[in-house]
Amino acid sequence: MIDATQFDIDLALLDWHLELGADEAIGETPVNRYEQVDLAPPTPAPAPTPASPAAPASGEARAAFDTTSLAKACHSLDALRAAIESFEGCSLKKGARNTVFCDGNPAARVMIIGEAPGREEDRAGKPFIGSAGQLLDRMFAAIGLSRLEEAPESALYITNLLPWRPPQNRDPSPEETALMKPFLLRHIELAQPGFIITMGNPSTKALRDTNIGITKMRGQWGEVLGIPSIPLLHPAYLLRSPEKKRLAWADLLSLRTRLEKA
Ligand code: URA
Repeated sequence: MIDATQFDIDLALLDWHLELGADEAIGETPVNRYEQVDLAPPTPAPAPTPASPAAPASGEARAAFDTTSLAKACHSLDALRAAIESFEGCSLKKGARNTVFCDGNPAARVMIIGEAPGREEDRAGKPFIGSAGQLLDRMFAAIGLSRLEEAPESALYITNLLPWRPPQNRDPSPEETALMKPFLLRHIELAQPGFIITMGNPSTKALRDTNIGITKMRGQWGEVLGIPSIPLLHPAYLLRSPEKKRLAWADLLSLRTRLEKA
């Protein structure tokens, strides 16, 4: 039997891991890292060389990863997916199970851009499949759009600002956003949607180049790369604040009107 003290210590350790963002087991076999204590004096770490840059933490380090050039070199969605999957410059990738690239129909007239994968999306490798994703599906079904549709006029294409899950679903940092945004812009150029929905704060701020929050930006039409774009309240927010669903409904109707006119 574990005595109360040992139990409390183990619980505190687990809490501490959670705070660090380690909220999932990613290996099949447990590893007791506390047994691997190396008592030898630490050898000084070699100075980083330009040839082996660490994951970016600053603007300077970020310059080592020219994601604009990497993205521009991709001439198909498959090439872009492969480039992102093999990109090692974002530390989020190390904690992720899968790279989440897209779901739905790439020929769709409407492209939805969310924030980043959550736990379920990370597991499945597809965007918006958890409870927020199910609400998203119902919201768009109400105006006749679905990610399962083959006809481009009624189809949806879905991606995120970031392809890897941030620990504990925290917001994307400005560094992660700046680093990965060129891939997203290329994604839009290659998919060529007729309309873009930025879903929630981070993708709206990143793509509409604004600091205005989503509660003020929602419903305000503008352009992203010359493509008509409207920000919507994120379905995860709507699950927490169901009284705001009427605002999302007004924005969906605005989208439907534009789709019918175009
Ligand atoms: N929230 C997002 O913004 N994207 C997902 O893929 C899942 C939840």
